[in-house]
Amino acid sequence: MTGAKARITVLVSGGGTNLQALLDAQSRGEIPHGEIVLVVSNKAGAYALTRAEKAGVPGVVVEKKKGEQKDFEDRLSALLKEYRVDMIVLAGFLAILSGDFTARWPRRILNIHPSLIPSFCGEGFYGLRVHQAALDYGVKVTGATVHYVNEIPDGGEIIAQKAVEILPGDTPEILQRRVMEQAEWILLPQATELAAKTLTERSTQQ
Ligand code: GAR
Repeated sequence: MTGAKARITVLVSGGGTNLQALLDAQSRGEIPHGEIVLVVSNKAGAYALTRAEKAGVPGVVVEKKKGEQKDFEDRLSALLKEYRVDMIVLAGFLAILSGDFTARWPRRILNIHPSLIPSFCGEGFYGLRVHQAALDYGVKVTGATVHYVNEIPDGGEIIAQKAVEILPGDTPEILQRRVMEQAEWILLPQATELAAKTLTERSTQQ
């Protein structure tokens, strides 16, 4: 950490509504301890990149080819170094990061997951599949979780959670939207500010 604000990169793979929530919160002054300096997508053409461009934030594609891990992470690491990134937010980023990578960023990577961890999480649980699993199980309450990222998929320390009701007639799509509106878009900016504040305080103590 070199400045008073944590330099944040947001990693995305798709539509980027959570990225949008972060950008909007930032423009309302709700992330005073951080600054979004870079958006990285592992998918070319992700709409999240258009959102970054509209907000005036650089957007870069770092593609992960099939079976590739180390080379992908080396390219990503070089980019993060170039932008002097302090903190990473995974916002709908659907590629897995290796334990080697996450170990280099202790308590500096956040992820949002669309369920109440430890339910419906871990490898294979992403996007609509998470909501389908909640509906199949028949739980009456679900929600979203923001957590630090370690080597275990969705296994790091929990920062914040918010519950959302499941209603009769819900489909995965309807439920996904409710979880985003009532939990994800509120929780992710709040947790990002909290983590950025913690990080800036940690580094001034060093
Ligand atoms: C969000 O619901 C996010 O929680 C989920 O993907 C969606 C991305 O939407 N992430 C995962 O499932 C990670 N395991 P967005 O691109 O509109 O933010």
